[in-house]
Amino acid sequence: MKTNILVIGGTGKTGRRVVEQLQKKGIEPRIGSRSASPSFDWDNKDTWVNVLNGIEKMYVTYYPDLAVPGAKEAIQSLTYLAKELGVKKMVLLSGKGETEAETCEKIVMDSGIDYTIVRASWFNQNWSESFFLDPILSGEVALPMSDVLIPFVDTNDIAEVAATVLLDDTYNGEIIEVTGPELFTFKDIVNIISRTSNRKLSFYDITLEQYIDGMKQMQIPNDVVWLIEYLFSHVLTNPKNQLVVNDIERVLGRKAKTFLEYAQKTAETGIWNQVEVQ
Ligand SMILES: NC(=O)c1ccc[n+]([C@@H]2O[C@H](COP(=O)([O-])OP(=O)(O)OC[C@H]3O[C@@H](n4cnc5c(N)ncnc54)[C@H](OP(=O)(O)O)[C@@H]3O)[C@@H](O)[C@H]2O)c1
Repeated sequence: MKTNILVIGGTGKTGRRVVEQLQKKGIEPRIGSRSASPSFDWDNKDTWVNVLNGIEKMYVTYYPDLAVPGAKEAIQSLTYLAKELGVKKMVLLSGKGETEAETCEKIVMDSGIDYTIVRASWFNQNWSESFFLDPILSGEVALPMSDVLIPFVDTNDIAEVAATVLLDDTYNGEIIEVTGPELFTFKDIVNIISRTSNRKLSFYDITLEQYIDGMKQMQIPNDVVWLIEYLFSHVLTNPKNQLVVNDIERVLGRKAKTFLEYAQKTAETGIWNQVEVQ
């Protein structure tokens, strides 16, 4: 059944799982992304009206991150347009402990549209679908801040929470904090992936400066280097992020998935045993 629900970032790490959750309930949401039809591009406001027209509720993930320059203005414009076009409810994916993301949350909270904020800690799937995959494939993971404890969260749990609060208006006006059930250091994570994928992985504790220099040598674009430096120096070290919160259990009525469960399932797909393409 086609519906008036929109998932912006509906092909991404949480968005595509939100789409799957809705489809399981017989709901076929509209997808907002550059590759969808009609296309939605954060960098081209002319594409927004077509995608938002006729929409009643929407899940919004901003790309690449609510902390980057321009994100606040984009969320402001999108929220304004959504209200003008009659959107009734927004569920915004935000990041825990990000001051800039909280500014974006406030824009949505003050908009007059019904809302739920889903505030997430770092995703498990960063290790299989994002920037931590390449070091795993290379067999050598070199990261700074190896003693920081992180409540990595499964994007399947985030998506189930997001789909639930999108459909259930009793969560309107709430900030739901989604974290995994345990705290792990990077070294712990690499050990778990090594065990579950049956691979020898080496972990090196380096400084943030060495990490940044390494990215620059690999000619990673400056805006990406800026974002990663920001995430490590501001977000990771924020004590608010080093806590387990039980909102997943509160919303879903079951425990959050553990990192070990994620690692076992992911190892079965063989993704961590691919030969790295040079
Ligand atoms: N990764 C984490 O650990 C983490 C933790 C907490 C919060 N968050 C938040 O989650 C959000 C999403 O981050 P993510 O890394 O997980 O990304 P993601 O959702 O995997 O992002 C990819 C999605 O964004 C779309 N996209 C990319 N560029 C776009 C553009 N210019 N216009 C429209 N759509 C675009 C992609 O589709 P197309 O390619 O088809 O356009 C795809 O649907 C961010 O706001 C971030 O702050 C992430």
